[in-house]
Amino acid sequence: MRIPTDHSGNSDGTVVGLKGSGFVLREADFSDMAGLERIENICFPYGRYSGAILRAFLMNPFSRTYVVEQDGIVASEIIIIHRRSVEIASIAVLPEARGRGIAKALLGKAEQIATKKRISTLTLHVAVDNTPAIKLYEKEGYRACEVISEYYGSGLSALYMKKELNIQ
Ligand SMILES: CC(C)(COP(=O)(O)OP(=O)(O)OC[C@H]1O[C@@H](n2cnc3c(N)ncnc32)[C@H](O)[C@@H]1OP(=O)(O)O)[C@@H](O)C(=O)NCCC(=O)NCCS
Repeated sequence: MRIPTDHSGNSDGTVVGLKGSGFVLREADFSDMAGLERIENICFPYGRYSGAILRAFLMNPFSRTYVVEQDGIVASEIIIIHRRSVEIASIAVLPEARGRGIAKALLGKAEQIATKKRISTLTLHVAVDNTPAIKLYEKEGYRACEVISEYYGSGLSALYMKKELNIQ
C-alpha cells in the first residue's frame, strides 16, 4: 500500500500548460479525495468513479493517481494502472482549465511512468462519441485497435486504443 504523503514531498514541481501558468503536476494523496470526486462528478456524465473506488486506486500499489492544481484548486486528474501494460483508467480536466495542454502533460506523465517501469504499451478505452478525447489520444500517438460494443451500457460502445513506446 502506498503511504499518504504531504504535498511538499510528492510534487515534482512541474509547471505545465504552455497556454497558462502556475499549474503544478503532482502525485495525489488522500487529502485530494474531495477534488478528485469533484472532477469525476463534473467531467463524466456516466460511469464516474465513486469515492470508494478513487480511494481504492490511491491504496493500490499497481495504480498511480496524479493531479494538476492551480492556486490550491485541483483542476485535473489522471489515474494509471500499471501491470503488463500501463492503462489510463481515467483522465479529466475541469471545463475552465481545458485547452491549455494539461491533458497532454498528464499523458506525458503516464509515458514517463511506463518508461521508468520498462513497459512499452499504453492502453485506454474511450466512448466512441467522445470526439475531444479521441482527438487528444490520436494526436498523442494512440491508435484504435478494437470497438467494444456496449462497453458503457445503454448502447454506447468503446474504442480500445493503444500506444507503443520504443523502449531501448
Ligand atoms: C478530453 C480532455 C481530457 C482534454 O483535456 P485538455 O486539457 O483540454 O486537452 P489539451 O489542452 O491537453 O489538448 C491536447 C490536444 O487534444 C485535442 N483536443 C483537446 N480538446 C479538444 C476538443 N474539444 N476538440 C478537438 N480536439 C481537442 C487537440 O488536438 C489538442 O491539441 P491543440 O490544443 O494543439 O489543438 C477534456 O476535454 C476532458 O476532461 N473531457 C471530459 C472527460 C473525458 O471525456 N475524459 C476522457 C475519458 S476517456
